[in-house]
Amino acid sequence: MSEQNLMEKIISLCKRRGFIFQSSEIYGGFSSCYDYGSLGVELKNNIKQEWWKEMTRFQENIVGLDSAIIMSPKIWEASGHLTAGFADELVECKKCHHRFRKDFLEKDKCPDCGGELTAPRKFNLMMKTFVGPVEDNASVAYLRAETCQGIYMNFMNVAQTMRLKFPFGIAQIGKAFRNEITPKDFIYRTREFEQMEMQWFCLPKDAEKFFDYWLGQRLNWYYKLGIKKENLKIYEVPKNELAHYAKRAVDILYKFSFGWKEIEGVHNRGDWDLSNHSKHSGQNLKYSLGQEQEPFYPHIIETSVGADRSLFAFLCDAYEEALGGRTETFESTKEKEIVLHLDKKLSPIKIAVLPLIKNKPELIKKAREVHQTLKPYFAIQYDEAGAIGRRYRRQDEIGTPFCLTIDFETLEKNDLTVRDRDTMKQERIKIDDLIDFLFSKII
Ligand code: GAP
Repeated sequence: MSEQNLMEKIISLCKRRGFIFQSSEIYGGFSSCYDYGSLGVELKNNIKQEWWKEMTRFQENIVGLDSAIIMSPKIWEASGHLTAGFADELVECKKCHHRFRKDFLEKDKCPDCGGELTAPRKFNLMMKTFVGPVEDNASVAYLRAETCQGIYMNFMNVAQTMRLKFPFGIAQIGKAFRNEITPKDFIYRTREFEQMEMQWFCLPKDAEKFFDYWLGQRLNWYYKLGIKKENLKIYEVPKNELAHYAKRAVDILYKFSFGWKEIEGVHNRGDWDLSNHSKHSGQNLKYSLGQEQEPFYPHIIETSVGADRSLFAFLCDAYEEALGGRTETFESTKEKEIVLHLDKKLSPIKIAVLPLIKNKPELIKKAREVHQTLKPYFAIQYDEAGAIGRRYRRQDEIGTPFCLTIDFETLEKNDLTVRDRDTMKQERIKIDDLIDFLFSKII
């Protein structure tokens, strides 16, 4: 599928089925801002939950945190984000006045009108605001540009209160903001986005060992959640392209229709953050391993992924368009069918309950009973509108792994058919065994 094509299809599916809407749509939209609809928020929550489980619960020595979005502006001075380190080069067309990030341009002329471009100037990406009633220099604050700074602020608090054994990690999920010059490619590059970051504090001599370890772990997370191996690769960021805080960085790239693009970065931040925050705050952020050893600044290995970017990758990877339809037991179709082969853990809706036909009150009653029984345990939909084949396709399109069909045999034998989204195979399961069966398939 061509670049434009797949992207348009995904955007159209997202809007049509309530995954993602343009923000402030009735006012003509607001540049690069998006709202997650009912299915989108379920999908994003599931991604965040899988990340959280992987990076905290399944680990020996990693705990969570939820720090503030607006913090002392001094943090951003110390971290280097207010200086040239966190700025892109901006050029403007002298003719149409469109603005571009210089490193995104292939030629020296304006890509929109061919006009001459101004000399580049540095443009800082921090989002500014004012705290309190007076809008003066003393009340300037910033929306955080990366969630990890809140982790560094609480490094000592967490280490002391959680009695963690060294080395250890702190994980956080939350919003971050950057005044991107050219936000683009749907939710790929936006000004408001969510990050899922883990900071691993270790001995300087072990940093490279843990770098490789965490890179491997992060790649496995995508594979476990079904991303196709051929659509992921890693990119060792050359020294001259490293972010101001990084000693080493490897990007995890996904093969989007618009090219191989970063979805996650693994960074060796050395002692950049803790030593700078120590200097600027006057607080001792050195860590002590006991009396025999000098206190030291732990080195930090960071894994940092965008929730929105990874969601976009999961959607693209799961998307299948079957022209002419897939073979259907109940009903074959000549129509185009869309299937989202999302991992079951990520699917926004896990189960759909479908009475075979609508105008039989006994079937409807039984289907509603099944729906009520399962509702406390699973994200579930009930649908009785339209032919059964069409209802299956509606569920395939949003990635629902299982459709339960209540038919006349159900009334006699107290069982129903469970249809698998990917294989379209159907098996009969006793209603009494249903909860155990579904748990074993989904969790
Ligand atoms: N703390 C390190 C850090 O923030 P980064 O490479 O600048 O590193 C990490 O960002 C991840 O955050 C990226 O790989 C991407 O998934 C996400 N991200 C960064 N800027 C973004 C933007 N403008 N829109 C959406 N996601 C973004």
